[in-house]
Amino acid sequence: MNKEVDEELVNQIDSENIPNHVAVIMDGNGRWAQKRHLPRVAGHKEGMQTVKKVAIAASNLGIKVLTLYAFSTENWKRPDKEVNFLMKLPVTFFGDFVPDLIKNNVRVQVMGDVDQLPKATKKAVADAISQTSECTGMILNFALNYGSRLEIVDAVKEIANLAKRGQLDVDSIDEDVVSHHLMSAPLGQYADPDLLIRTSGEERISNFLLWQIAYSELAFVDTLWPDFDGDTLIKEVIEYQGRHRRFGGLESE
Ligand code: IPE
Ligand code: IPE
Ligand code: MG
Repeated sequence: MNKEVDEELVNQIDSENIPNHVAVIMDGNGRWAQKRHLPRVAGHKEGMQTVKKVAIAASNLGIKVLTLYAFSTENWKRPDKEVNFLMKLPVTFFGDFVPDLIKNNVRVQVMGDVDQLPKATKKAVADAISQTSECTGMILNFALNYGSRLEIVDAVKEIANLAKRGQLDVDSIDEDVVSHHLMSAPLGQYADPDLLIRTSGEERISNFLLWQIAYSELAFVDTLWPDFDGDTLIKEVIEYQGRHRRFGGLESE
C-alpha cells in the first residue's frame, strides 16, 4: 500500500533532529479532483489514501505526534453533499486502516467538537480510539470539527468557571493553565507543533492551532494533498532541519 520511500532522501535525515510534533493542514482535495474533471469528493477519497501513506511514513520517521486537520468548524458551510461525504470518510478510513495502525503501534486521538458529529462518525472515531488505546508509538491526532477560536473560547469559559467557584486563583493563571484547558492538553509536552505544513499553495492558518503554533516552523507547499506522500514529508522534515529556531533568544553555537 505505502510505496517505499526514497532511500537517498532518507540518508539526508538527521535522526537526532526529528520534529516531535508535525501538524498538517491537508488542503487541495477539491482542486485535485477539479483538475481531473472529477467531483470534489473524489479528491477527498484520494486524500484519505494520502493520510494512510503519510501516517505510516511519519511513524517510521519517529515523529511522536502527527496532527491532521480533517474538518474545520467552518467546513459546515460547504454543500450538504460534500459535508455528508466528509462525515462518512472516518467510517471507511478507520474501518480499513485500524489493523495497519495497530501493526505500526500508532494510537488514534481526536481533537474537536466530536459531540456535534453524526452518530456513525462519532462511533467510528470512538472505536478507533479504543482499538488503538494500547499502542505506545506515534499519536495520530485528527482535528475533526476543530476550530482554534472555539477551542480558546471553551478554555476561557472553563477557566472563568473555576475562578468563579473559587477553585482557581486569578493570579495563578499563566500560560500553562491556558494550555491545560486547550484541546491539545492530552498531548502533554508535545502539544505545540514543531513543524506546521499546509499543502495546496494557500498561505493561511484557517483557524488551526492558533495558540500552539506560536513558535512552530511553517512550511507552505504547492503540492495538493492527494499528491503528497511519504517522500514529500521527508523533504519537509529535511527542510525543517535546516531552520534555525531561536524562540526569541540567540542561537547557541
Ligand atoms: C481539504 O481540501 C479538505 C477539507 C477542507 C475537508 P479542500 O476540500 O479544501 O480542497 P480545495 O481547497 O477546495 O482544493
Ligand atoms: C482548512 O482548509 C481546513 C482543513 C484542511 C480541514 P479550508 O479549505 O477549509 O480553508 P480555507 O477555506 O481555504 O481557508
Ligand atoms: Mg481548501
